[in-house]
Amino acid sequence: MAQINENYLKLPGSYLFSDIAKKVAAYQAEHPEKEVIKMGIGDVTRPLVPAVIEAMHKAVDEMGTAEGFRGYGPEQGYDFLREKIVENDYAGLGIEPDEIFVSDGAKSDCGNIGDIFGPDNKVAVCDPVYPVYVDTNAMAGRAGDFAGDKWSNLYYMPCTAENGFMPELPKEKVDMIYLCFPNNPTGETLTKEQLKSWVDYARENGSVILFDSAYEAFITEADVPHSIYEVEGAKEVAIEFRSFSKTAGFTGTRCAYTVVPKALKVNGTELNALWNRRQCTKFNGVPYVIQRAAEAVYTEEGRAQIRENIDYYLGNARIIRDALEKAGLEVYGGVNSPYVWAKTPDGMKSWDFFDKLLTEAGVVTTPGSGFGPSGEGYIRFTAFSTKENTEKAMDRITNILK
Ligand code: MLT
Repeated sequence: MAQINENYLKLPGSYLFSDIAKKVAAYQAEHPEKEVIKMGIGDVTRPLVPAVIEAMHKAVDEMGTAEGFRGYGPEQGYDFLREKIVENDYAGLGIEPDEIFVSDGAKSDCGNIGDIFGPDNKVAVCDPVYPVYVDTNAMAGRAGDFAGDKWSNLYYMPCTAENGFMPELPKEKVDMIYLCFPNNPTGETLTKEQLKSWVDYARENGSVILFDSAYEAFITEADVPHSIYEVEGAKEVAIEFRSFSKTAGFTGTRCAYTVVPKALKVNGTELNALWNRRQCTKFNGVPYVIQRAAEAVYTEEGRAQIRENIDYYLGNARIIRDALEKAGLEVYGGVNSPYVWAKTPDGMKSWDFFDKLLTEAGVVTTPGSGFGPSGEGYIRFTAFSTKENTEKAMDRITNILK
């Protein structure tokens, strides 16, 4: 008889963002007259920029000609894109094109990367945390059992207002460490010096850091590292995930990449070779048309156009921060990040405040507790709505919090 992967049965409920989508759909079905503003999942709203669209059109036309048609592409991504990524995103950092693996998303890669790690690794995650790191390790059997609000085998690193949302170095030996900075969900960042302490820890303990840098394009302050490889020695201990989703509006188009340096070895085995083996077996590459579109992000026009969008979203983040602060909430993030993390008023539970905002203000957010136990008592707003809707949402929230 066939057996299932019983680790799936241990997963509580459904995936956080599907849960919220279902809740919102049910509310809308009951109240079709109410206009709901979505500031929950971090999905962009601005259209793809002209440089990207032009490159896509050109690539589509190429695909319709005998000379330009392409079938299966390289599983690791076309050289034209890998080279552009290295030249632009890793200039001076010593990363080579064959250390870049183009993929359909940082979410998929953050989940799939677990394939190349053993089942007994001790995994450390920030708390609150992007749920993909936790759920995919639970699926792989590395998380143990879900008891109350935590997994028995995960090492949780609380990130709270008290410690400035900065995880403390683990007090025990851990093998895989997920770090996401600028952080999802808190929107907070760390300095190069702080990141160095993690690289040092990993080097001393033989751990691998899985560094999610999906929001680096939103960094506005100096001394906030864009890549973990800015820290010396990181190439020997870290894998980095980047995405075109939030940077260039590719959430629906799908394109990202993962950097696996050849210097990164576990027990003498190069992880670059293992990830290559994994990708060649389970993945057939990102469509040619999409990779040409991603390449256009690095042109002069492309850069300027995506910058305008990022600044637009950062402007929304400012509107959210200002309004919530004026309404008397404690507010974090939103300066180097599209996420604003706010303390709920009067000690309200995250889901209760989520319900209040949905039913009284018609605004969808993400409850902090959905990201882990230390997220309880917080709520997350995204800045990816339109400016008009962001302002409207803030007016409504200001009114109900009076
Ligand atoms: C989020 O809202 O946390 C992200 O958009 C989810 C994702 O990128 O998968």
